[in-house]
Amino acid sequence: MTQQAENTKTPKLSALKRYRRMQRQVRVLFRKTKEKTATLAAKMSSKPEAESWDGADGEETVMTSGTSQAEGHANGKANGQKDFYEKFSPILNQVKKVREAGVYLYCRPIESGQDTEVTIHGQKMVMVGSNNYLGLTSDPRVKEAAIKAIERFGSGCTGSPFLNGTLELHEELEARLAKFMKKPMALLFSTGMQANLGTLSAIVGRGDVAFSDRINHASIVDGLRLSFGKTVKFHHNDMEDLERLLKRHQNADGRLIVVDGVYSMEGDLAPLPDIVKLAKSYHAKVMVDDAHAAGVFGAHGRGTPEHFGVEDDVDILMYTFSKSFASIGGVVAGPVEVIEYLRHASREWIFSASMPPASVAGVLAALDIVEKEDWRRERLWTITKRMQQEYKRMGFNIGASQSPIISIFVWEDFKAYKMAKRLMEEGVFVNPVVSPAAPPGKALLRTSYTATHTDEQMDFVLDKFKKVGKELGVI
Ligand SMILES: Cc1ncc(COP(=O)(O)O)c(C=O)c1O
Repeated sequence: MTQQAENTKTPKLSALKRYRRMQRQVRVLFRKTKEKTATLAAKMSSKPEAESWDGADGEETVMTSGTSQAEGHANGKANGQKDFYEKFSPILNQVKKVREAGVYLYCRPIESGQDTEVTIHGQKMVMVGSNNYLGLTSDPRVKEAAIKAIERFGSGCTGSPFLNGTLELHEELEARLAKFMKKPMALLFSTGMQANLGTLSAIVGRGDVAFSDRINHASIVDGLRLSFGKTVKFHHNDMEDLERLLKRHQNADGRLIVVDGVYSMEGDLAPLPDIVKLAKSYHAKVMVDDAHAAGVFGAHGRGTPEHFGVEDDVDILMYTFSKSFASIGGVVAGPVEVIEYLRHASREWIFSASMPPASVAGVLAALDIVEKEDWRRERLWTITKRMQQEYKRMGFNIGASQSPIISIFVWEDFKAYKMAKRLMEEGVFVNPVVSPAAPPGKALLRTSYTATHTDEQMDFVLDKFKKVGKELGVI
């Protein structure tokens, strides 16, 4: 019976009843189509006989013979659809290849503390692959502060800072950091990743546009993805492109430019003076992720805004504690209205447990050291300049590095793995960075330095780079 005939036969049916009947008809039609598709899929399967059975949820599932019910459930194949796990294959195959070639270097378990030298499988090696810029992970004052905090406050906060997870220690650190970062207020997050996710997702609202450097850190990319606003990406450090986009979005409700102060893979800097100038011209706010600059850049270690003399023009400043501050956690500092808003709107802040006492106390102790011991920054820069010069002199391409992150370009992914493996055998820990973390064809070895590295350790690293670089035809 057609819908029209049905309707004329029952003219007094209420609109709601007609709607429900239509819904039922659509459901029947959907089930029949599904059955037909399943039969067709079974026929098309290379195995001739297909058996069907009722899955736990009552939905019909078709399996080709030779597949057990358990396997059918496990691999999720149903009605000729793709296996749920099938999409993992490209990455898993790649991992398998790298493992089989014996050059898989991720997640190497370190048996010692994170210091300028580490031990892996009983072998000592010089560490030039960490973000321990000031060498504070093993500082007795930082360790002692963390131990004392555990003794006084216990091992964890068991709750969100919004509810039971705020200790006096958190408030003390927020106040100290707001002062250090030269902003009215600061807010702690449990990681740097959460700081960016929780800030950007909350402050970039519907109708706003965020202008994000194309190679910004993943936490910025994902924070913007979670927001309700629009994100436009400008070419890396390309101010003409940024201006073009700012012009195009002049009518947006609000504009926020977001950049890394130091780019974590190539170690170059965002041109903050140009960025703040454009921000002023186009009425945009500026947020800087200074994960790799805190403690390192600026006469007092306050980061890239201090280094460039534009502290008052950067609206929101973010640090992580997983690098110079030798711990874990993150902080966002800015105007009172931003921080107060985050306290009541940031899901990553409200719905996640706060930094554990040991980490907070460790950061407080690290901050004391950052404020007092300028020699660490000075030493780090001496090492950095020397290593940049030496690598270049040997013929390595170190790209645009302007920081203690010095990347050695080897271009091909496999060569990066091979070279990192050979260096490890020779006693040097470095990280291979390949696509997609680096652009395709721009594979590199990421090296980074620590204020407490000795000259002898640096001589050793340079010797090994020369030896392995020649062996693999990189220089
Ligand atoms: C630029 C940048 N932002 C944010 C983060 C995230 O920080 P965390 O490791 O503390 O989560 C990192 C860490 O690698 C980073 O390099």
